Amino acid sequence: AAQSQDEFKKQAAEAALNHVQGGVVGVGTGSTVNHFIDYLATIKGRIDGAVSSSEASSKRLEQHGIPVLDLNSVGTLSLYVDGADESNQSLQLIKGGGGALTREKIVAAASERFVCIADESKLVSVLGRFPLPVEVIPMARSYVARELAKLGGNPVWREGFTTDNGNLILDVHGLEIAEPMALEQDINNIAGVVTVGIFALRPADVLILGAASGPRTVT
Ligand code: A5P
Repeated sequence: AAQSQDEFKKQAAEAALNHVQGGVVGVGTGSTVNHFIDYLATIKGRIDGAVSSSEASSKRLEQHGIPVLDLNSVGTLSLYVDGADESNQSLQLIKGGGGALTREKIVAAASERFVCIADESKLVSVLGRFPLPVEVIPMARSYVARELAKLGGNPVWREGFTTDNGNLILDVHGLEIAEPMALEQDINNIAGVVTVGIFALRPADVLILGAASGPRTVT
């Protein structure tokens, strides 16, 4: 199963190449995006470079000889390609399983079009079975955990993990996210929260799902 799941990720990653029109491409993080970076390298002569959402993706891009550019010097991106931990039918996502959610949310926000790539197992009817990642300023960890518990979740500190921004992650178990936009706003408003891994106020525009029957696009 793990073998075919990786094949499905690869399939979605390859299909996303059709959305690359040149210019600077926003690149996300994770095993699915790693496949995308490898495919992007095959057409690197047609792009000007990439804006990356993590140190890990930057490293992989540079290994392929794709220039990694500073978002501040690029302005608005036409395309952002990234994976997800879950998507619902409205293309609202849970992200941050790899801990890169803050930079991912920034690049997604700065992009005109967000193409999400995943294997079909990521599509769910209601978000929340995947524990919701929340990036938190270290001194606020315990306070934010108490506030998240008030919202009905069970926050678990991802011990031993530090984000690229020097912060911590709380993974919130046990949430059934019926109203993703409202919960995104509520968690954003807790003091000490840097970013919540709900991408609903800015959902994906296109979802490409790899599957046994071939890649399927949901818009
Ligand atoms: C990284 O922080 C996440 O948002 C990833 O996009 C997500 O974990 C998807 O990862 P895979 O492509 O490895 O499933």
